[in-house]
Amino acid sequence: MDYYAVIGHPVEHSKSPLIHQAFAKQTGQVLEYNKVLAPLDGFAATVAQLHADGYKGANVTVPFKFEAYALADQLTTRALNAGAVNTLSFLPDGVLGDNTDGIGLVQDILHNLEFPLQGKRVLLLGAGGAAEGVLYPLLEQAPSLLCIANRTHDKATAMAARAQKQHGESRIEVHSFEALTGEAFDLVINATSSGLSNEAMPLPAGLFAPQALAYDMMYGRETPFIAYARQEKVQHIADGLGMLVEQAAEAFYSWRKVRPLTAPVIKQLRS
Ligand code: ATR
Repeated sequence: MDYYAVIGHPVEHSKSPLIHQAFAKQTGQVLEYNKVLAPLDGFAATVAQLHADGYKGANVTVPFKFEAYALADQLTTRALNAGAVNTLSFLPDGVLGDNTDGIGLVQDILHNLEFPLQGKRVLLLGAGGAAEGVLYPLLEQAPSLLCIANRTHDKATAMAARAQKQHGESRIEVHSFEALTGEAFDLVINATSSGLSNEAMPLPAGLFAPQALAYDMMYGRETPFIAYARQEKVQHIADGLGMLVEQAAEAFYSWRKVRPLTAPVIKQLRS
């Protein structure tokens, strides 16, 4: 039996065990996937214990993605680009850190929602870890513009500057929420945690171009951002459940070298 886990604090709400067990059943893989609550000051010790117990890998969730990045012996390019790690593989020569969040978002948008990103005007709301993790994978899809807006303007500027320095990106712009007035985007992604506190962002009317997609990386609740998109009469609205399943599929693939089908698992979770 191969063992995997999701490590977080809190972790009780995590759907990862359900998703990975569904993938395992579907692909005939024999594995067990557990939830592990790490103390806030005990992430490294928890990882060491799992490693010593013979675990093959782990997913990492809030608030440990930066610690996981620091702890890994080797990092994939995706993890380096994101500056954070959500997937650990315990290999004979050390711990490999990967990040599948960005690819998960992109897969969901391109394949499940059938929304091509090439040439599109994209607005990314937020400049925290969640936004940073998806920034470069979005840019790789060749949008014509990627605009970042964040409540704290300096954080958006710093995030854009990091991407520009690392990747020489000229397609990034930074706006305050207020300065978005008069701009329209094909895709607006909410990568802020404002939905957690049920707070609405001061977004102007008219932000969505015709046929736009409104995407909230949060799932399981009607956030003020989703309510705002409905009010703006947006036809294509998505939550982050597809991204959750896609990032898990990418982790599963890197561990098991078998690619599971995601659509039936997304359907199962929705029902
Ligand atoms: P995460 O890992 O979820 O990205 P984070 O790094 O703490 O968490 O970042 C939270 C993001 O949500 C930030 O962009 C934050 O804006 P600030 O940089 O101004 O703090 C944003 N955010 C949280 N609550 C918000 C709210 N009520 N309105 C607007 N933005 C909010």
